[in-house]
Amino acid sequence: ITAELIGAPTDIGAGARGASMGPEALRVAGLQPALESHGLRVLDVGNLSGPGNPWLPPLNGYRHLPEVVAWNAAVCDAVYAALGRGHLPILLGGDHCLGVGSIAAVARHCREQGRPLRVLWLDAHADFNTSALTPSGNVHGMPVACLCGLGPAELVGIGGHTPALRPDQVRQIGIRSVDEGEKRLVHEHGLEVFDMRFIDEEGMRRTMARALEGMPANTHLHVSFDVDFLDPEIAPGVGTTVPGGPTYREAQLCMEMIADSGRLGSLDIVELNPALDVRNKTAELAVDLVESLFGKSTLMRAGR
Ligand code: ARG
Ligand code: MN
Ligand code: MN
Ligand code: MN
Repeated sequence: ITAELIGAPTDIGAGARGASMGPEALRVAGLQPALESHGLRVLDVGNLSGPGNPWLPPLNGYRHLPEVVAWNAAVCDAVYAALGRGHLPILLGGDHCLGVGSIAAVARHCREQGRPLRVLWLDAHADFNTSALTPSGNVHGMPVACLCGLGPAELVGIGGHTPALRPDQVRQIGIRSVDEGEKRLVHEHGLEVFDMRFIDEEGMRRTMARALEGMPANTHLHVSFDVDFLDPEIAPGVGTTVPGGPTYREAQLCMEMIADSGRLGSLDIVELNPALDVRNKTAELAVDLVESLFGKSTLMRAGR
């Protein structure tokens, strides 16, 4: 496997500045050697470029929509090209609005190859807002809705097919903050959400078994890892902390079970905000977890 690291240094969809420094913080935390130590070839293609952050209030319910579209177009092209080279793209965000471009590219690739796609959305938030429902206008609260066809045409159509995803292709894990109108929309569209209540009651093991069940052998699994998924006690370096997230152990098990599925085909690491971090510890934790996602384990495991 060749992993292709694609940096997208922007905070264009976020409510705090600083996620634009995420790609470099992940590199400084040793992402490339960590992946290499697990037998992957790694190609770091550097950073994409795009418009700066004008830091404006919402216009028609969106902040910075033209700039969000420009960044997502660049991400979509880069991720699609990486997949075409047979590489496993790892998007280094950047805020979570970039999930639109990244996953639209993956969906296009899978459609062309006739492969089933499943998306695991690891997040404190459902990111299922629309311009009518959003409390903030920040597009990082809207990518799942956009991918399911609910959003502005220029974003929703970015991968060339509308919608990019059906809600039944998505599993959300770790959710603990959903806005009032957003709740109704999540319910209406039948999104499968394993929220923190579910994880508390069933444990991470049964949660992941459920989230990963029913995938045919040729399934492409995309993981969209919003670092605010993690409990803020261990991961303070994000713009929108919500208490009560998965612990270090729960997060490790989550990643290990995804690795064991053998289906991982692409990854986003988003919302890391070095301006709010403590000595880069959140970036280091993200790298540690990504190692587990690519098969790090304490002992030799059956069948490998
Ligand atoms: N639900 C809130 C909003 O729409 C917060 C979204 C946070 N999203 C994220 N990717 N961190 O503004
Ligand atoms: Mn290692
Ligand atoms: Mn989030
Ligand atoms: Mn998110």
